[in-house]
Amino acid sequence: MIESDFILNDFETSKVSNGSVTWKTPSNIALVKYWGKQDPQIPENASISFTLDACFTLTTLEYKKLDKNSKSFNFDIYFEGEKKEDFKPKIQQFFERIEQYVPFLKDFDFVIKSRNSFPHSSGIASSASGMSALALCVMSLERELNPSISEEYFNKKASFLARLGSGSACRSIEGKLIVWGNHSDIEGSSNLFGVKFPYKIHKNFKNYHDTILLVDEGEKQVSSTVGHQLMYNHPFAKQRFQQANHNISKISEVFQNGDLNEFITIVESEALSLHAMMMTSNPYFILMKPNTLKIINKIWEFRGETNSNICFTLDAGANVHVLFPEAEKESVNNFIINELIQYCQENHYICDRIGNGAKRLSNN
Ligand code: PMV
Repeated sequence: MIESDFILNDFETSKVSNGSVTWKTPSNIALVKYWGKQDPQIPENASISFTLDACFTLTTLEYKKLDKNSKSFNFDIYFEGEKKEDFKPKIQQFFERIEQYVPFLKDFDFVIKSRNSFPHSSGIASSASGMSALALCVMSLERELNPSISEEYFNKKASFLARLGSGSACRSIEGKLIVWGNHSDIEGSSNLFGVKFPYKIHKNFKNYHDTILLVDEGEKQVSSTVGHQLMYNHPFAKQRFQQANHNISKISEVFQNGDLNEFITIVESEALSLHAMMMTSNPYFILMKPNTLKIINKIWEFRGETNSNICFTLDAGANVHVLFPEAEKESVNNFIINELIQYCQENHYICDRIGNGAKRLSNN
């Protein structure tokens, strides 16, 4: 599919006067990372993520048809019950980017009410779940105006719109493993939207766990927007994009053959390569904290001693995602509680696992 396939042409706004829709949308954690992009939010390499379950955003979009034509977007945003003027520029920019595909936006007055299952300041990226939730709400309104769209088109376009809000958000529509970015080894993959991993996933990855250790709950010093920009003219950019695409080929095999040793090698190398890009940018920066490294070393020690398949990955921050198979949940949970929690801010951590994607909730 190409961009123009996502433009809504035939619609009749008089069909709808007012209403509301609510979506619960998960966060996701990339295993092969996206870091570096071209306009408009086109990734430099393919990425793959586990859709999460416990970390989600709940967004209600209330809409009311305006009597007169409006030249501007009309919306208010509430986050966790409070009106948030400072969230407006991001939503305004999102609406500007998606308007050509959903040309009915200016015909409505919107109230957006959103909340996260995880603390806002936890350092967990809320843009993936937040933007995908809003994109799904907008798509539900599109479906009111044009009920003939298929489920497949609905999900693809929701992912396409979410991508324009935040790249990684396009991987937060469906479960359980999502690929975003053109790749010859992944059938149906696209730079424009995320697709479900198209091959059979080995049982070793069923119910895979992701316990998120909150090492640093503060705001990030360097936003991912700035980080992506620093990949322009980065001395290692070309090699990095090649490495990531090569890792997609390898991890695609791993998801089919269940080789957990190879999984660990790819995933940990990806996490450290992402942070290596940050440390070698101009200007350079470090998002890991001393406790991030302490946790990584403890994980390596534990793996060496017990032959566990525990491993880690990192987002663009100091928090550590501890990944492990369902079969090891008791031993790894004990290890986390006894050895790792001490390195978390106020002992905070979140037990999450691979999930099934976004869900529309009834508004009653
Ligand atoms: O979606 P953005 O622009 O916030 O970028 C996300 C980048 C990483 O989380 C570091 C990697 C990824 O693929 O999710």
